Amino acid sequence: MREQLAKIREDALSRLAAVRDSGELEELRVRYLGKKGEMTAVLKQMGRLPAEERPDMGKLANEVRAAIEEKLAEAKKRVDAQALELKLRAETVDVTIPGRVPDIGHRHPMYIALDEMKEIFIGMGFTVVDGPEIELAELNFDRLNAEEGHPSRDWSDTFYFDRDSRVMLRSQTSPMQVRAMDTLPLPIRMVAPGRVYRKDEVDATHSPMFHQVEGMVIDRGVTMADLKGTLNTVIRKMYGENTQTRFRPHHFPFTEPSCEVDVQCHKCGGAGCPTCKGEGWIELLGAGMIHPHVLEMAGIDPDVWSGWAFGFGLERTAMRRFKIDDLRLIFENDVRFLEQF
Ligand code: DAH
Repeated sequence: MREQLAKIREDALSRLAAVRDSGELEELRVRYLGKKGEMTAVLKQMGRLPAEERPDMGKLANEVRAAIEEKLAEAKKRVDAQALELKLRAETVDVTIPGRVPDIGHRHPMYIALDEMKEIFIGMGFTVVDGPEIELAELNFDRLNAEEGHPSRDWSDTFYFDRDSRVMLRSQTSPMQVRAMDTLPLPIRMVAPGRVYRKDEVDATHSPMFHQVEGMVIDRGVTMADLKGTLNTVIRKMYGENTQTRFRPHHFPFTEPSCEVDVQCHKCGGAGCPTCKGEGWIELLGAGMIHPHVLEMAGIDPDVWSGWAFGFGLERTAMRRFKIDDLRLIFENDVRFLEQF
């Protein structure tokens, strides 16, 4: 039995010294110290020993057991340390590998054009204001001199929310003129970009939702010359110093006189082509001197104050700026298109 114990000790210690992972370690623990293990098997034979030998043998068995336990603990420490080392090595980050650049996109071409335009107006002392897309017909029409019966108020043109045609999706940014007159102190210089809605079919130049940039100046002694000078300056800053413009008489209910402003076609340089429908010119905005009645309705004395206003079509402005020839490209958000700007 003494030899058996010596053999177990020798075996166990040498195996434990060579153990490599926690699986093997557990196997050895069970094999030597488990309920059905080798030590238990030896101890079971104790009963057969003569009584006087038992204490010595018991002492020896305890020593062997303690030695194995000590070696087990030691091996466990070693195996755990190795496992940690391996884990750390596997998780090492190589900081020299080039990073992956996230695709964060960029501004939409229409907003690039809008930001440019805003910068120009801000530089001229204009304030940028924002207003609701759901608007009262009173501000969109009545206060702008387009009374009951005006064709643009028709249900075939305008999105209304109620049967009485009082609340609507604004069909122009011009109600922002009224909101500005009602809330801002005089003199006023403001621009108001935003979405507008009309019952139009989608084609290369139309969409039921599009953007306008409204602008207005009210001060003492303001004339049509200021309007022309300002708009020409803005258009040339956006499109280049040599850009030709054309101011054409037109009619709007809220301005008198009124005009439309065209720029020479960027495709054909004025000769006439499909982009400008053979005209040589592309319409960019409506403008005019604010109608005295519109000033009066806002409580502003037209004998003291005068002003002018304009409304740019923003998509058109961006299309001309980036030489885009189909409005639908602006809204489709095809990245192959957008990535070009
Ligand atoms: N609101 C007009 C439109 O949608 C454009 C316009 C014309 C705006 C003349 C103005 C203006 O401020 O004075 O067609």
